[in-house]
Amino acid sequence: MPREFRADDWQAYRMDYGNPHERVEPVQQEIAVVDAALMELVDAGVLPHANYPADKMLAHRQGIAETFEIPWTAITHRQQRLIYAINAIIQPRNMIAAGVFCGNTFVSNAGAGVGPGACYEAANLIGVEIKPEEAERAERNVRRIDPTGVARVVAADARDVVREFPADIHLLYLDADGTDHRGKGIYYDILREAYHKMPRGAVVLAHNSVNSATALVHYLEWVRDPANMRASVNVILDGEGLEVSAK
Ligand SMILES: C[S@@+](CC[C@H](N)C(=O)[O-])C[C@H]1O[C@@H](n2cnc3c(N)ncnc32)[C@H](O)[C@@H]1O
Repeated sequence: MPREFRADDWQAYRMDYGNPHERVEPVQQEIAVVDAALMELVDAGVLPHANYPADKMLAHRQGIAETFEIPWTAITHRQQRLIYAINAIIQPRNMIAAGVFCGNTFVSNAGAGVGPGACYEAANLIGVEIKPEEAERAERNVRRIDPTGVARVVAADARDVVREFPADIHLLYLDADGTDHRGKGIYYDILREAYHKMPRGAVVLAHNSVNSATALVHYLEWVRDPANMRASVNVILDGEGLEVSAK
């Protein structure tokens, strides 16, 4: 059986994709659910500890609500908190996020390193989006919270960016839905390009581990094989899911 963390109410917990800033549960409940998931990730050996700055997370959330143009997103508040927390814990010097659309998923990762929720110093936080007009909007959004350029969005195929990246990749976030029949099956190709650049302890996050499980079957099999990744946990806080794997 694949290792998983499943919140009791994951099916009932729903957001409005068009209104991502709306609170759907008390923040204390959100914190408790995410804390329990982080503890499971520590227990599995994916994360070294479960401590992240909860106040900075809320500063990040508020900063994004005030500055980002988000036509829609499937990133729930639970997922936003989980992704932010994992980045705050791992503190990746170099992070690449593949398939970032308007930038909300990207900044849930990058927000631990830049902007109002920053809690460490990063070198390269790169969002990759294959559609130039979406990449432009995402880059515009990101510039509003990070004038430094440490976080940036490029219009490109994530497979190429990862292949050509000249340094270690400490955290890889996967959300690209491909441009052909393979759809989210492209996660596997992107990870295979990144794998040899990921040092021990590096983490891969794969969004849609629940609602795209069929398209991701090959990817999920691969990361759940201990010959490839040290540990992997399917974190089910909402109907989308996040597979969290450590090398
Ligand atoms: C469905 S969106 C992700 C949305 C995100 N889950 C959210 O809730 O905000 C996936 C994005 O991946 C992009 N994409 C598809 N294939 C890609 C590739 N090879 N490289 C980079 N981006 C890609 C698509 O253009 C699309 O904007």
